[in-house]
Amino acid sequence: MRPFLVSLCLVLLAACSGNGQGLDENGRPIGEGGGGALSADFQSIQDHVFTPICTECHAGASAPQGLDLTQGHSYGLLVNVPSNEVPSFLRVAPGDPNNSYLIQKLEGTAAVGQQMPEGCPVTRPCLDAETIAVIRQWIANGAEPPASASAAGGGS
Ligand code: HEC
Repeated sequence: MRPFLVSLCLVLLAACSGNGQGLDENGRPIGEGGGGALSADFQSIQDHVFTPICTECHAGASAPQGLDLTQGHSYGLLVNVPSNEVPSFLRVAPGDPNNSYLIQKLEGTAAVGQQMPEGCPVTRPCLDAETIAVIRQWIANGAEPPASASAAGGGS
């Protein structure tokens, strides 16, 4: 037996089997922005996922597929907006995560292009299953806008 390896496994197991609140300390991508754990509301997803991970590419006028995921632009370009790649799908279809193109891109099942974030898992990590589950939950709950109207941006 190799006691060291055994205890190392136990430590890793303990670190991974929490209720999700330990993700920040584990250095997972979802911990990079904002305070607290990721929750199924738009502002939390913006702070934990879109801003720290996606806006490296999805920002400004030249954002891929016109999808600017920066704060103030993201909601209005996602919810009830058809995908450019597969226009028969909405990027986010409120109440219907399986038919939301955003989820297909994150899970790598989209018919067109790469899994997001682009290059994962080679050049950067893919989103972990827990993170995608939270985004699914936000969509299943109706894809509500951020509580603060100004954060939604875009107006009318
Ligand atoms: C390294 C650059 C890069 C990063 C980081 C990145 N993307 Fe993309 N994204 C692209 C490119 C390029 C395309 C178009 C080609 C493709 O789909 O593979 C794209 C396409 C998309 C599309 C399809 C849009 C449409 O209208 O069809 C979605 C949705 C998307 N990305 C979401 C995300 C999300 C969410 C993240 C963060 C988790 C992310 N991307 C991170 C480069 C990136």
